[in-house]
Amino acid sequence: MSHKMPGIPFRHSATGTTIFTVMSGLAQQYNAINLSQGFPDFPLDAGLSRMLFDASASGFNQYAPMPGLPMLRQAIADDFANRYKLTIDPDTEITITPGATYGIYSAFTSILQRGDEVILLEPAYDSYIPNIEMNGAVAVPVSLVAPDFRVDWQKVKDAVTPRTRAVIINTPQNPTGAVWSRSDWDELAAIVRDTDIYVLSDEVYEQLIFDGHEHRTVMQHPELRFRSFALYSFGKVFNNTGWKIGYCIAPPQLTNAFRHVHQFMAFCVNTPAQYALAGFLRAATAEPVGRVMESKRDLFLSKLAETPFTVQVPTKGSYFQIASYERISDLPDMEFAQWLTKEHGVATIPVSAFYRNRQDDHLIRFCFAKKEETLMAAIERLRAVPVK
Ligand SMILES: Cc1ncc(COP(=O)(O)O)c(C=O)c1O
Repeated sequence: MSHKMPGIPFRHSATGTTIFTVMSGLAQQYNAINLSQGFPDFPLDAGLSRMLFDASASGFNQYAPMPGLPMLRQAIADDFANRYKLTIDPDTEITITPGATYGIYSAFTSILQRGDEVILLEPAYDSYIPNIEMNGAVAVPVSLVAPDFRVDWQKVKDAVTPRTRAVIINTPQNPTGAVWSRSDWDELAAIVRDTDIYVLSDEVYEQLIFDGHEHRTVMQHPELRFRSFALYSFGKVFNNTGWKIGYCIAPPQLTNAFRHVHQFMAFCVNTPAQYALAGFLRAATAEPVGRVMESKRDLFLSKLAETPFTVQVPTKGSYFQIASYERISDLPDMEFAQWLTKEHGVATIPVSAFYRNRQDDHLIRFCFAKKEETLMAAIERLRAVPVK
């Protein structure tokens, strides 16, 4: 007897498996050093691990309150008062989420309706477009301008239509390492002034910022703050990306809409991990991740200069550095990244993966959030890559 499968609707236009899964799989298959996916290969602070164990052993193993543990939300509010001199109400403006990607999706769900348009800046983190489309909206990509991947504000203005409902931005930016200045925020504010456009500000790399640059959060902008969701990830700050815990800061009305979605998607987030994060934030004993990552970037860049890869603009923030392979090959970036993994044992991400139309400028993205020995072993292999 034959069975007819019900049809499966495609909820977004991205096809196949994400490039991160593809490249990490290839790295495993060829025993390559994995500088593709963005995660640290060194351990998190032992104190934080202990706090997780202690929280569970102390019996904190049942559902947490829907918006997040009050003590964690208070610790975040205190952290923002301390680092940004901002007053954030932990009861009405902070929601703990199972990671930032979930926060982005939920923020979109709470504001988007079918046919709405969302502007994003490319190259961009690869969940944005599927998240927009899964919510029935239309993604409107605007290209950043190489080599420093700055925003062309005229292009953003030109992309706005009566259907534009949101703009999503990311600073420090994945994959380019570009960092927004105060004038970028003012340009955005001028564009959305007197419109119904919301702002989603992906600030997961806020503390991974180098060379004395300062992160400015959307919450510091007096105009933008009232129409914005800001998304954060503890994974990037405490080197525990696998915990998948983050938070959303938004003004009370937007937080209310966000929680309407969150209460029926996840309802709440891992309880012992929230206790551990609250305790660890309070203790303030963490080594500043920005300084750690800046020294990794410096090491990686100084050694990369001894290989045939070229860097036009050193990254200002994030885990990532974009490099050109123009001295090595004319292959499309996807093929080049696969060749580099198979033949030279170093996995990276082709930058075309961060563009909807797969724009190929013959660039790859390295992740340098790795142990010194991992970075040095990768450099050894990259040194052996022949020039054309
Ligand atoms: C720009 C950007 N946003 C969000 C995330 C996801 O954060 P989380 O792991 O907390 O979902 C990442 C992870 O790589 C990222 O690069």
